[in-house]
Amino acid sequence: MIAIAIGRPGGPEVLQPVELPVPPIRPREVLIRVAAAGVNRPDLMQREGTYPPPPGASDVPGLEVSGCVAACGAEVERWREGDRVCALVSGGGYAEYCAAPDVQCLPVPSTLDVVSAAGVPETFFTVWTNVFERGRLRDGESFLVHGGSSGIGTTAIQMARAFGARVFATAGNEEKCAACERLGAERAVNYKIEDFGAVLMGLTDGRGIDVILDMVGGAYFSRNVDLLALEGRLLQIAVLQGARAEINLVRLLRQRLTVAGSTLRSRTVAEKGAIASALERMVWPLVEERRIRPVIHTTFPLTAAADAHRLMESGTHIGKIVLTV
Ligand SMILES: NC(=O)c1ccc[n+]([C@@H]2O[C@H](COP(=O)([O-])OP(=O)(O)OC[C@H]3O[C@@H](n4cnc5c(N)ncnc54)[C@H](OP(=O)(O)O)[C@@H]3O)[C@@H](O)[C@H]2O)c1
Repeated sequence: MIAIAIGRPGGPEVLQPVELPVPPIRPREVLIRVAAAGVNRPDLMQREGTYPPPPGASDVPGLEVSGCVAACGAEVERWREGDRVCALVSGGGYAEYCAAPDVQCLPVPSTLDVVSAAGVPETFFTVWTNVFERGRLRDGESFLVHGGSSGIGTTAIQMARAFGARVFATAGNEEKCAACERLGAERAVNYKIEDFGAVLMGLTDGRGIDVILDMVGGAYFSRNVDLLALEGRLLQIAVLQGARAEINLVRLLRQRLTVAGSTLRSRTVAEKGAIASALERMVWPLVEERRIRPVIHTTFPLTAAADAHRLMESGTHIGKIVLTV
């Protein structure tokens, strides 16, 4: 099969099509004939050598795929050859074939084409487990996502809105802010020209925000803590602007705040399977009703993976970038 290899750590040019054997499957895995694979920012970090695959995972990049089941391991009960699935994987997505644990596969919703479905797993799993499971966002609460136009942000805005939250976002230009508001954000703040803390304190009558999903880190940490409402929750999923921060801990005490962080990739198959079940029960019906959809910015052929990474590095995309096979 053709797959994309990371020859050595470096820029997009190190992504090269190579011929590799079709991956073997374990008893509880399926082999997917890949129709499309989502591109995620962690893939860029893996390419640069700062986010190595966990032990046992393929060193081919790619954390999510969609396609048809081509073969099932001996202990797989749910799936049959030919089923249309999308799957969260720990690596190996940028390829014609990819192995996936059976519990990390979900049916392609009838309202989505198979290419769009490739843009679903990574952000839907991440948003669900952080915002709803760990962050316990409830109907009527306020929610802020930084990087609102990212793959993660466009998913988080729609999901939080569908579950009845008041949604706010930040983004780096007017076009991105307008996209966030079209997706359901009540107000998207262009952080380059406005102070998001002041704007959102004003819009919530000084109460602050109940749940914040942040990928920026650095100086945002303290600004997020200052913006949280009583009993507020901060979910940290990346540190694009720096891993070190200083906050006023007294505010944590007085406001009874919760700060949590996680990475999805390092979690066990059982944990990812539990997230998949919850998504199928709680979120798939909303996708079937067309209330939530992946926002696909553009697609590239698999062999042009380097161009897909260049586009993501330019930061001009809104939503997901997908590779088609
Ligand atoms: N912890 C987890 O389990 C998990 C899982 C998946 C993804 N993630 C993380 O979530 C983030 C979003 O992923 P994605 O695939 O949705 O990426 P993406 O589409 O490329 O989005 C990144 C966003 O971050 C904003 N941004 C703010 N500061 C930035 C900076 N210093 N450098 C680059 N971008 C900056 C950009 O928007 P503006 O132009 O508006 O600034 C952009 O929209 C990534 O950092 C990724 O590693 C974490």
